[in-house]
Amino acid sequence: MLDSLKQQPADALLALIKLYDADSRTDKIDLGVGVFRTETGATPVFAAIKEAEKRLVQSQDSKAYLGPEGDMGFVRALIPHIFGADHPWGDRIDGMQAPGGTGALRLAFGLAMRAGLRRMIVGSPTWPNHTQMFGEMVIESVTFNHAGPDGAADMDALRAAVAGAETGDAILLHGCCHNPTGIDYTPAQWDEIARLLADKGLLPIIDLAYQGLGQGMDEDAYGLRAVLAAVPEALVCYSCDKNFGLYRDRVGAVYVLGKDAESTGRILTNGHNLARTNWSQPPDHGAAAARIVLEDADLTKMWLDELAAMRGRMRLMREMMAAADNRVGGMDLAPLATQNGLFSILSLDKDQILKLREDHGVYMAGSGRINVAGLTKGNIENFVSALAAVVG
Ligand SMILES: Cc1ncc(COP(=O)(O)O)c(C=O)c1O
Repeated sequence: MLDSLKQQPADALLALIKLYDADSRTDKIDLGVGVFRTETGATPVFAAIKEAEKRLVQSQDSKAYLGPEGDMGFVRALIPHIFGADHPWGDRIDGMQAPGGTGALRLAFGLAMRAGLRRMIVGSPTWPNHTQMFGEMVIESVTFNHAGPDGAADMDALRAAVAGAETGDAILLHGCCHNPTGIDYTPAQWDEIARLLADKGLLPIIDLAYQGLGQGMDEDAYGLRAVLAAVPEALVCYSCDKNFGLYRDRVGAVYVLGKDAESTGRILTNGHNLARTNWSQPPDHGAAAARIVLEDADLTKMWLDELAAMRGRMRLMREMMAAADNRVGGMDLAPLATQNGLFSILSLDKDQILKLREDHGVYMAGSGRINVAGLTKGNIENFVSALAAVVG
């Protein structure tokens, strides 16, 4: 029976890591995998997390099960950061822990399906795992164009997609730091989106996987808060894997905005069922460390400072790329400075991407997506020269 399964292609980005590792050139540049990197190319554990882990090891006296909802202290300690210190939704908002943002998305999609989801509307391109999950969960999706030709969001496409939506449809939106384009909606665009969704009665599912890596913690949550202020119900999928650097510890949460506290609680019992039949309980360690950070004012400040430094480094790389605008053929690099987060897409064809790899040791996804955190003051000049050489 099992032998009937077909060979699946290797994940393209993971295959790229192997190629990169095997490349002996000392000036090679990795712009592929989506993790933050320092100026020296490292992806370190946050100092605030290291300290929290020490305290955790010293104080933890049991690893007994917590339940499918996970560490609710962690889930609730994040609420003021995501929704605002004085958010207006009170107990209409609550959540549960999930294994990373991916687990949170899985739960949110599962909840929407239980509630009769008809179709998922999503901008394209999107994070490939969104699309893979739709396939795996047999969710029909409808796409609209996310990126306009000027490197900003294509609002006309979004308006048309919302206008064409029907009862039972949901819309999946990246809260900030759009993956793979880096193109976020402006506050004015979010205000319009909030009105459109409310008028149409669409269920918003907001994927917030990079809060704090774009413009700032509050700035990156602007859209989410604007949408939640306009609609009766919404789901938020949150990841701490990037903004706490906890990647492999799989730390995330799903939040529900229900029409009242009773509804939110009832919806979440469905989330608990879904968790129970999938992973039963989420992994504890990373969430417990994040909770310790969030419960301690000094550690919270340390974390926010570390996050601000990461954000600042990426903004600097973006500005340096934009400053090279006139040096790379007809390529428009200026929008990189206004885009956000780890990713942007360069308009390169397959041959140019291959040439960059083979002739210049520059590794990037086949879509032309670059991880700007892979750039450093030391390699950016080489990267721009390599781009100029292949673009002509
Ligand atoms: C848009 C988006 N959503 C969610 C995730 C999930 O992240 P994780 O499951 O590692 O927390 C990612 C990770 O790359 C992402 O880019």
